[in-house]
Amino acid sequence: MHQANGSVLVKKLTASIGASVSGIDLKALSDDGLRCVRQAIAEHCILVFRGQFLAPEEQLAFAAAMGEVVLYEGLEAPKDLPAGVMRLRNDGRMEKITENWHSDGVYLENPADYAILAPHVLPAAGGDTMWSSLYQAYDGLSPGLKHLLGDLQCVCESNRLTKGYGLQQLFSATKPIVRKHPDTGRPYLFIGGTDAFVNFVNMTREESEPLIRYLYAQAYRPDIVYRHMWQPGDVVMWDNRCTLHYAVHDYGVEPREMHRIAVRARPAMA
Ligand code: SIN
Repeated sequence: MHQANGSVLVKKLTASIGASVSGIDLKALSDDGLRCVRQAIAEHCILVFRGQFLAPEEQLAFAAAMGEVVLYEGLEAPKDLPAGVMRLRNDGRMEKITENWHSDGVYLENPADYAILAPHVLPAAGGDTMWSSLYQAYDGLSPGLKHLLGDLQCVCESNRLTKGYGLQQLFSATKPIVRKHPDTGRPYLFIGGTDAFVNFVNMTREESEPLIRYLYAQAYRPDIVYRHMWQPGDVVMWDNRCTLHYAVHDYGVEPREMHRIAVRARPAMA
């Protein structure tokens, strides 16, 4: 736990991932407050702010303070929300495509660096979101496997999302499986999500599968996961590069609606 700036309190939520930030009003963020948020997100990968109750425009202003708001490529924007705010609403489980471990837009050449999520309609019980640390996933591997992964690239595609979100085109990107975070210099396992992985470059799918399955199992070990129980007024921000997330659908047919904004860190911060 540390106290920054006199009144802002950043408190770890687990030993390896996540922190709650209190004593901060995201509607009126000072330069010191912004510095504190940037420092905390680099350190903890996901930040929880309670009691914020941000309107979509206020959520967007917070996002713009953190970097450049990214418009979702290939997706039709909701007409009743400001550009950049995406509505994630599910009516029934079959339509729910965020219920798997993933990072957003991993199939794009340049996915967003941060995401900012706020609830608008919550079920009476359940509907948590989980995040895992890809730093910890990498740190836990043996030196031999780390060495092997150093040369590997993987191919990711948007095939599942093309169906679920009505994407107009299939996106595909090839990326190194190990990356260094520009802010911290720490290596992380960049494995995107179970829905997007196709194969490792120069390897068949059959050869790729046992290895990627092993890496996924490391990437969401329970001891490197933070599970968030949503309350009205919450805002959660995460680093989309060094985390995976999973929206748990355990609330039957009740509606749940979230607003998400994607952000690209400005070069000066990256
Ligand atoms: C997401 O996958 O970005 C949304 C997570 C959630 O709805 O909890």
